[in-house]
Amino acid sequence: MTEENYRVLDRDSLPDYLAGIPAVVEVLGEGADLEILEIGDGNLNFVYRVNNASDANRSVIVKQAVPYLRMVGEEWPLSRDRMTYEIRALTLYNEVVPDLVPTIFHADEDMSVLIMQCLSDHIILRLGMIDGVVYPKVATDIGNFMADTLFKTSHWSMGSLERRELMDRFTMNAELCKLTEEFIFTFPYMEHDSNYSNPATDAWAKEHVHTDTQYKLDVLAFKDLFVSKPDALLHADLHSGSLMVNQDESYVIDMEFAYFGPFGFDVGKVISNFLLCCTSHFHRAGGAEYREWLLEQIPVIWNTFESRFLELWKAADDSAMLIDGLLTADEAERLRQEFMTNLLRESAGFAACSMARRTLGIAGVADVRDIEDLDVRSKLEIANLKLSKRLMAERNTLSSIDDMLAIIRDFYSSPVL
Ligand SMILES: Nc1ncnc2c1ncn2[C@@H]1O[C@H](COP(=O)(O)OP(=O)(O)OP(=O)(O)O)[C@@H](O)[C@H]1O
Ligand SMILES: [Mg+2]
Repeated sequence: MTEENYRVLDRDSLPDYLAGIPAVVEVLGEGADLEILEIGDGNLNFVYRVNNASDANRSVIVKQAVPYLRMVGEEWPLSRDRMTYEIRALTLYNEVVPDLVPTIFHADEDMSVLIMQCLSDHIILRLGMIDGVVYPKVATDIGNFMADTLFKTSHWSMGSLERRELMDRFTMNAELCKLTEEFIFTFPYMEHDSNYSNPATDAWAKEHVHTDTQYKLDVLAFKDLFVSKPDALLHADLHSGSLMVNQDESYVIDMEFAYFGPFGFDVGKVISNFLLCCTSHFHRAGGAEYREWLLEQIPVIWNTFESRFLELWKAADDSAMLIDGLLTADEAERLRQEFMTNLLRESAGFAACSMARRTLGIAGVADVRDIEDLDVRSKLEIANLKLSKRLMAERNTLSSIDDMLAIIRDFYSSPVL
């Protein structure tokens, strides 16, 4: 990534820039008048939808990182390296799970620009779930996405050298890893200026989070895993705002946090987003029926993930971990079972961290934070914190996803509002 080849694009400079990229011209049409709309609702980057003015179906998405946090401005510098990792991860995902990610038309690490397929018939999963929409395929798509991307970039699948070479291409996503270390695993569990504030929630957190030694040490153990356990290439920001869906398809976007970390981080984050939404529907219009749908998706996600992961494992040739002749069939079966139980427990712990961070930390989820009534909102927030603590405390009792679901159902059987 060089400085001399970088410039920030805007609506005025985009047409000329795009005209120089044949793959993009092919989509938009030679010499076409362009409509350019800034659609980024995110915090970090500039995202534009560009389409042929006389044929809106001919469209692309242009995403560019600037060397600061978009929502704050230049006074909060943030290396644009993040786009290098998003480009690299999306390139790899296009090989591993091409039906579950946008196609890349052009990527330029020097310009920190990614130009990709526009998902014009899809919406952000979070928004759909807030509205109580059922998506029949999303849980299996997420399960398959995680199984393929995590298994195939792990030492259970890859040879030792090729995996280290791949890791090397992701090790320096340092600033975004540091954001996660601080904003998911540290600040929400203490008094910190960056934290969100809602009086009743603050009071509860002071008494039941900041002073709960065991919980804080457990969270720290998960931070340790995040920092030191490079199982596989993670998406590392796999929440319901990073999925675009409709009734038939699901696409994963926004992989700028990608790095080598623990398997359970992606799995736990996904599960926590279904739970955060479930809690919100004690107030939102979806009610009991939609809450039930959300809860039912959790075993579908896990079971799809587990069976696809094990299918890939059983079909794998020699890898850094698995050498023919070392284990008997029974030993291999035992290894896989113990592995999956540990992964389930790890996922429960990361789900717990994610729920707390989305409640107490700076970056909340619209599912809860957009509820205007502060009293209602704090009741939902406290429920999310209680569920986080329960998942964390009971994670090591889990032997199956049904065990996890039983804890969650038991939790929700007490009044939330
Ligand atoms: N390929 C795409 N097709 C259609 N819309 C897209 C696509 N990629 C992104 N978007 C839209 O742009 C928004 C912002 O994209 P994205 O989340 O990648 O940006 P970001 O700056 O990294 O945001 P965040 O602060 O969430 O990290 C998405 O929420 C979505 O609405
Ligand atoms: Mg992002």
